[in-house]
Parts: sequence; C-alpha cells; structure tokens
Amino acid sequence: MKKVYFLTLFMASLFTVAHADDDMESRIEELLSQMTLEEKVRLCYAQSKFTSPGVPRLGVPEVYTSDGPHGVRMEINWNDWNHAGWTNDYCTAFPALTCLAATWQPELARLYGRSVGEEARYRKKTVLLGPGVNLYRTPLNGRNFEYMGEDPLLASTMCVPYIQGLQSNGVACCVKHFALNEQETLRGHVDVRVSDRALYELYLRPFHAAVTEGGAWSLMGSYNQYLDQHASHNARLLNDILKGEWKWDGAVISDWGATHNTQEAIFNGLDLEMGSYTDGLSSEAPINTYDDYYLGSAYLEKCKRGEVPDSIINDKARRMLRLLMRTEMSDRKGYGSINSPEHVAAARSIAQEGIVLLKNNGILPLTSVAGKKILVVGENATRSLCAGGGSSELKPRDEVSPLRGIKERFGDCEIEYAQGYVSGRAMFGNTDKMQQTVLDSLRDEAVEKAHRADVVIYVGGLNKNHQQDCEGGDRLHYNLSFGQDLLISELAKANPNIVVVMASGNAYAMPWLDEVSALVQSWYLGSEAGHAIADVLSGDVTPSGKLPFTIAKQLIDYPAHKMGSIGYPGVTPELLPQPFGGEAGKPMNSKALLDSAVKGWKGISFSTVRCDGMKKNETEVYGEDILLGYRWLDYFKTQVQFPFGYGLSYTIFEYGKPVIDDRKVSVNVTNTGKVAGKEVVQFYVGDDKASVLRPVKELKHFEKVTLAPGESKTVTYTVKDDDLKFFDENNHEWVGEPGTFTIYVGASSRDIKGKVVIKL
Ligand code: BGC
Repeated sequence: MKKVYFLTLFMASLFTVAHADDDMESRIEELLSQMTLEEKVRLCYAQSKFTSPGVPRLGVPEVYTSDGPHGVRMEINWNDWNHAGWTNDYCTAFPALTCLAATWQPELARLYGRSVGEEARYRKKTVLLGPGVNLYRTPLNGRNFEYMGEDPLLASTMCVPYIQGLQSNGVACCVKHFALNEQETLRGHVDVRVSDRALYELYLRPFHAAVTEGGAWSLMGSYNQYLDQHASHNARLLNDILKGEWKWDGAVISDWGATHNTQEAIFNGLDLEMGSYTDGLSSEAPINTYDDYYLGSAYLEKCKRGEVPDSIINDKARRMLRLLMRTEMSDRKGYGSINSPEHVAAARSIAQEGIVLLKNNGILPLTSVAGKKILVVGENATRSLCAGGGSSELKPRDEVSPLRGIKERFGDCEIEYAQGYVSGRAMFGNTDKMQQTVLDSLRDEAVEKAHRADVVIYVGGLNKNHQQDCEGGDRLHYNLSFGQDLLISELAKANPNIVVVMASGNAYAMPWLDEVSALVQSWYLGSEAGHAIADVLSGDVTPSGKLPFTIAKQLIDYPAHKMGSIGYPGVTPELLPQPFGGEAGKPMNSKALLDSAVKGWKGISFSTVRCDGMKKNETEVYGEDILLGYRWLDYFKTQVQFPFGYGLSYTIFEYGKPVIDDRKVSVNVTNTGKVAGKEVVQFYVGDDKASVLRPVKELKHFEKVTLAPGESKTVTYTVKDDDLKFFDENNHEWVGEPGTFTIYVGASSRDIKGKVVIKL
C-alpha cells in the first residue's frame, strides 16, 4: 500500500516537473510572440556593470548579476568598477572553492551552494557568478583559489551539489570560465591549443557535469581564445559542444569585457554581453552608451537588414527569458536570508573540514598549553583575506582573524603577536614595494620574541593581493614573498616548537619544511577563518581535508613549466616547432604531443621560440596533453612534496585488503587511534594495457567516512563502464577497450593501500 502511495507521489512529482517545464516553455513562447525585434535584442546586452534590462512593457524583470563564487560581492557602481559604498551590502564569506574541494565532501558543497544562494536571493540577485571549475595546471595561476583543483572527477563531483543547492533558491549559477582559462597572464587573448582528448577527458568534464548533472542555468564564456576565436563567442565551444552535443538550454553570458566581435557574438552562441566598455570599444564613457556594445545597435542593425535569421534572434531571447523564468519570475523562489547563524555555522564547518594537515611531528593538537606563552607571527594572522583577489572580493559582516580565533580559544595562555613581515596595501593590478630594512627589522623582532615563547604559530602564505593569488596577474615565482622563507627558518632556529599555518589557494616551495614541527594548509577561509583554524590547532576538530592538487617540489616539475613559454604563458605562434605548431585553427593531435612528451620533448629547440609579451596573438600549448597534475608526476615517477589527495589526521586509519565482487570493490577502514576522525577513501583506476597512452591511474570515486575510535566501516565503489573509457579523438567517441584494469584503493594518490584487478 505504502509502495503504491510513494509511486503515485513520485509519478505525480515527475508530472509536475514535466508540466512546469511545458508551462514555462509555453509562457516563453507567449511572451516571445508579443515582443518587438528591439525588445528581443535589448535582452542580450548590459544596461550597467552588472545588470541587463528585461522587457518592462511585458513585465519581464531585469537580470541582476553579482560575483561569486564565495559569497555575494559588495555592490559595484552602476557604470564603473568602484565600490558603491552601501552600508547594507555585507555577506557571509564562505571558504574559497579550493577549501571546499579539499573537504572531499559533496554534502558540504550542497550546504555551501544553498547558503550562498540564500544570501544572493536576499540581496536580490538573479545570477551568482560562479562556481569556477577551471583545472589546476600551474601553481602560478592567480585564480586557482576560485577553482577546485587538478582532477576533473573531484571538481565535477563537488560542483554539481553546489549548483543544485544554489539554484534551489531561484538564483542561477553561472559556471565559469568556459573554457581553457587556466591562467591570468595574457588571459585576454592567449590562444590555447589542446587536443580533443585532453579537452574531453579533462578540461570540459566539470563543465559537462555542471550543465548535465547540476542543471546549471547559465555559464560564462572566458577571456582567452581557442581555435583562433575568443571563447565567449567560440563556435566550437558554444554552438557545437555546449548547445549541440550537450543539448544545453541555458544562457551563455560573456566574461566582463570578453566580447570582441559582433558577427561572432551573434552567430557563435553568446546570449548576453556583459562588462564591455560603455562605449563598446575602448573606454568607459561618462554617459550611458550601452547601445554601443557588440550585441547592441550593431546587432539590431544587422537584424533589420535581414542578415540574422529569426531562429537566432529568437533563440537568444528565449534563453534569456528562460533564465528569468527560472529565477526572478519563478514563484518557487524564497526570500533568502543574510549572514544568519546557520550560514556562519556552514562557513565554519566547511572551513574545518577543508583545512589540510600536511606535517605533524606530534606537536598538534595543542592540548597541554594552558599557562604557556604562545607567540603568533605573520601578517596573515591579522590581515583581511576576504578583501582582494579581484572579482571574488567580499565584505563580510564579520571576519574572525586567526589571531582573534587563537586568542578566543587559548584564553588560558599568554598570547603575544609579532607581524614578522609586511606585504603592502591591498590593491588590484599593483603592488607596494617593500623596503628590505623594514622586513629585516620585523623579522628581528619576531625572532627575538620567538626565543622567549613556548610555542610559535606562524600564519603566512599568499594573500590575494596582486600576484599573490589574485585575478588579473599570476604569481611571478613558486616561493613565498616578503622574506617569509628566511623568516620561517630563523623562527624555527629560535624555537623548534613552531606550527606553520599557510593561507593560499596554490602550492608553493617549502625550503623550511624539515625545520618546522607542523604545517597546516588553511586556504582562504572567509568569515570564520580564525575559529576554524583554532578548532583544528586545539584538537576540537580532527583535521580531515585532503589536497585537491599536487604540491610539487619545484615549479619545473609541473609539466606546463617544463615546456618553457610554450606551455606557459604562451609564445609567438609563427615560431612554434612541431608538434607544438599543429595546424592553426585545428585541435592538436594527442598522440603526437604524448609521444614527444614521453621522449622529454627531445630534439625541440625551445630557445628559438619567443614570448613577445602582450602582442595579442600568443599561442599556448597544453603539451602535457592528458597527463595533467598527478597523471604526469605518476607517469614519470617524479617525487613530490605532497601528493594529490594527501592529508593527515590526529588519529590513525587502517585499511583492510580490498575485495572485489563482480564490479563492486570494497575495503574495510578502521580508526585505530584514540580520537574520532574522518578519512577520505580514494579509488583510482588504471588501464593495464591500452592502444593509446593512458595515465597510470585516475581518480574515479571517493567517499569520506566518519569513524569513532575503534570503529570500522566498509566503503564500496561500483565500477561503471564509463570509468574505464578514454576519449578517441579520431572517431570523436568514448571507448572502453577489453582487457584488465587495476583498481587502486588509497589514502592519497601516492599512498595506495591495496589493489584489485577487474576484467572488461
Ligand atoms: C572575471 C569574472 C567575474 C567578472 C565580473 C571578470 O573579470 O573574470 O570571473 O565574474 O569579471 O566581476
């Protein structure tokens, strides 16, 4: 009886969804039939920095967008980039997406999305510009902190619930930046050459998951070029793949100022042009002249001359109306809420679970420090890490600094602070020059205090300032700046009881690693940073985050940097040697790239290739092809500082022998330590023999389990056919070749606890 009841309910809900969709489509057609050409065109370009108009005559509302992705950004002026200076435009700052990825906890991604969506709804936003799902290719990329690491499965698994949670508020996500925008240097024009195999196996995967599984309602075209065409109006990316192969019905929004050509914008799949200069071309005009946008009067004129088929005009308008139907015009949207205790709690638990413990000689957790003297050193202990970063900057209602968090939690200790180094004002696109004498005196003061402390907690890293993890400019090198490497070494000499807490969205060199007692990777944690850090340092929370990218020993170990400027940041294309030359306007050949990568790119003279700076036609080759991140480092057996998937705990997990039953791989995990903890059990798959080069192994499944001391749980992974396939670029299809596959069960990509073999 019960079953029948639930079946009826289920069928009824399916019917309601189908009915609602039909209903929405017929309302769209009804509106469309009443609209003039001018009204249809006007839906497709901005009326201010962050909004576009609706159709007032027909009651179609405006589109209000906001950055994204870690919270709802403060209000920006109508016609320029300055802060509007409101007093009620604060938010909860959630941890950066690298931290979310490091939780390996999809349910936290759902909570994140739902919470940030409630804030966006409250602030009356139609679209929140995020999440970012570009992959981690170089640790210099200034925006890696906005993305979810180097593995497409991890990024896909985490972005889907984020999007679903966000959109459940009637606020659209805008998945960005589609596609191949893996760096900031030369981002406005660099032409990325990549094989179809790497494109489909790696870079498109999270976007595919976002639109097909997550049901994303909008997507942002990126700044760079691909096949000699800007990505925001790229025929292959937008028409062929996104709207063609994936049959996506959402709206493509250009990145801000990423539109460059009316003809391409009309015909190559762009639906909404945003952020171009207000005179459309080269400057911000004082008066509102948005009609000069590429999709403004130039588009209208072409339509009037009969150069644009009705099908295209209607398709763009339909997609914009659909975006509004799903959001502003939906009667299912809520009222939202801002900075509620629930949101603050969500930000804190995401931060707690994303923090990664990288080294611990036993000093952590700090359980018996009562009455002792703790010296906190480092600018990041007090600096706001919500400001800066570019478009993801936030104005949190409250931001608990690490120093404040430590003082609150360790109230029974004597806490002293020394700044240790200084990095200058928070600025976009510019930096203050630091004087060596100032750095020296700050270091001397901190080291002198360290001698007298029982424990030193160092809080440093990058800081979201220009070239320090920020939009618009990549980092210049792999080391930390402002004399931090020397400072940490000197502190460690003065006091071996030193715990290092690093904020960053990127890997960095660690020349001092052997000298310190513990290293905690704390990302950019947002409003609750200080509380979450103190929770982990004190042992109130057992760390359970795992790295979403590899920390290599040196920059050159990342394949993007092995190829010189060809691999990053791009070179003068005419001088490219084969196989990097490829054929302009065509995808690269995966086999040729891999053959030559495996040989170590021998016989290629990199010195003939010039990087001519901002010439506007640099080409960059993703020459490592499908061997991104740990795939490359595994293949070449390169030693790493910390592998992908790595992270320590305060307890110990023992893995049983994995067993296989048909397609089900199971492993028993036991907490044999003294405190409760969480472990991320990772399953990688390797093809034992294939007709093409395949990575040694690739992440295909993971699960985070909570275990009390002494408790055991069985974690199971059911191998799907798709998990065994590679992308055959000659026939444009996914192929699973018969043979044997090894399933590796591990606590990280380099800590494999057991293997089993299956046959296809
Ligand atoms: C960034 C986008 C951002 C947009 C609006 C662009 O510069 O690349 O990520 O959403 O600005 O601020």
